[in-house]
Amino acid sequence: MRESILIVDDETGVRTSLQGILGDEGYQADAVESGEACLAALEKGRYDLVLLDVWLPQMDGLTTLSRIRTLDPDLPVVVISGHGSIETAVKAVRMGAQDFVEKPLSLEKTLLVVRNALRQRKLEAENRALKQQVEHRWVMVGESAGLRALRAEIAQAAPSNGRVLIYGENGTGKELVARNIHVGSLRADGPFVEVNCAAIPEELIESELFGHTRGAFTGALTTKKGKFELADGGTLFLDEVGDMSLKTQAKVLRVLQEQKVEPVGGTSSITVDVRVIAATNKRLENEIRKAAFREDLYFRLNVIPFQVPPLRDRREDVPLLARHFIAELSAEYGKRPKDLAAEALDVLLAHHWPGNVRELRNIIERLVIMTPGDRIEARHLPGGLLAGTPPGEPSASGGSPPPLLGEFPSLAAAREDFEKRYIWKKYQECGGNMSRTAEMLQVERSNLYRKMKAYGLLPARRGEALESA
Ligand SMILES: Nc1ncnc2c1ncn2[C@@H]1O[C@H](COP(=O)(O)OP(=O)(O)OP(=O)(O)O)[C@@H](O)[C@H]1O
Ligand SMILES: [Mg+2]
Repeated sequence: MRESILIVDDETGVRTSLQGILGDEGYQADAVESGEACLAALEKGRYDLVLLDVWLPQMDGLTTLSRIRTLDPDLPVVVISGHGSIETAVKAVRMGAQDFVEKPLSLEKTLLVVRNALRQRKLEAENRALKQQVEHRWVMVGESAGLRALRAEIAQAAPSNGRVLIYGENGTGKELVARNIHVGSLRADGPFVEVNCAAIPEELIESELFGHTRGAFTGALTTKKGKFELADGGTLFLDEVGDMSLKTQAKVLRVLQEQKVEPVGGTSSITVDVRVIAATNKRLENEIRKAAFREDLYFRLNVIPFQVPPLRDRREDVPLLARHFIAELSAEYGKRPKDLAAEALDVLLAHHWPGNVRELRNIIERLVIMTPGDRIEARHLPGGLLAGTPPGEPSASGGSPPPLLGEFPSLAAAREDFEKRYIWKKYQECGGNMSRTAEMLQVERSNLYRKMKAYGLLPARRGEALESA
């Protein structure tokens, strides 16, 4: 789209020549002869920039500028100053004009100033959008009691600067908690540096954490800053801290005690100001008992403990999270957000979620990409989900085994048991698609539905959360 510029000048000559030049450069250029006409034009149309003469016959340039500011605080204005009105131009810049050009106008200078002002505005807009995106990325969705409590704890702990240890199963949102603590802390403008202790080979972890000097070991061709130093003034997130070797634990403990790091191969140490947030999916108490984790380090890290509850313990968050991920991922892939059918949601609600929120996000990502049409139905869900255990599933793992054949009290009871299990098996084979199952079993769909309901084979809706979500 062409960028549009509004020229405001009482001299006809200036208006026509500017319109000509800017038009040649590919801009949409309109021109008016007074401050009043400028405001009228801005109320009617959208412009990307105003070129404003400060010396105008009726409403003067500065008054016009302040009116423009009330209409649109972000609209870039470049001021044209005449002979002897430099001071006014300076005033205008103080009032928020981007820049100014002097009469007699130099063609090149004017174009340059216009281009810069437009670019500046674009950068600012991009910056704002990025910042919003980044902040949006760490938003914690959920209204369950568990998540509300977590949010309250984050708000309380964040500004305190105390060390935090986050415990939670895989995919529960430990990193998200760490990010939120950082964002809510006094270090928010400082760096957030992440180290995954499980992902770094044992022989590299020290140089990764503490840095190294040139020639410290084979392959150390240059001096490298460690993560502690990079996090100076900010937060260091030690992820999977339970996977650190005892040797590294000893060194980390020293850094925490002394607030100083010594790069590998170095002779002097560097003072650092770092808040450490650690996370683990291991019960560190057990690791301590097994002598795999140092107790003294545990106490150093665990000043403020956090527990992120597994998703299966806060199922009312499932619909909210599912919708949140549909919106987020649809935007990311440039797709229209799809609806989530109530039956599909039932299946999601019934699932056990061993991989927690990450598992849900991955499933939604796949659905956003792969589902045709605007609606996600139960049949689109991966088969594994449907194999989950709905209430009353026959011969569920962990349930008591079915009676032996001879033990059924009646033919009706035996027939019922067989029918129940048979239907469930076929339903699974059809990926939870009721119509297809009915077709395969050669029964009416409504008939099958009634039977499944009677046998308790339909995942029950849980609570009101679902209805209102
Ligand atoms: N409450 C929530 N609201 C929105 N998104 C969430 C929430 N919890 C987790 N997520 C998202 O789920 C994914 C997994 O979360 P995160 O990486 O924080 O978990 P984790 O506990 O660190 O996982 P892992 O143990 O696998 O490292 C991320 O994409 C995260 O943004
Ligand atoms: Mg993580």
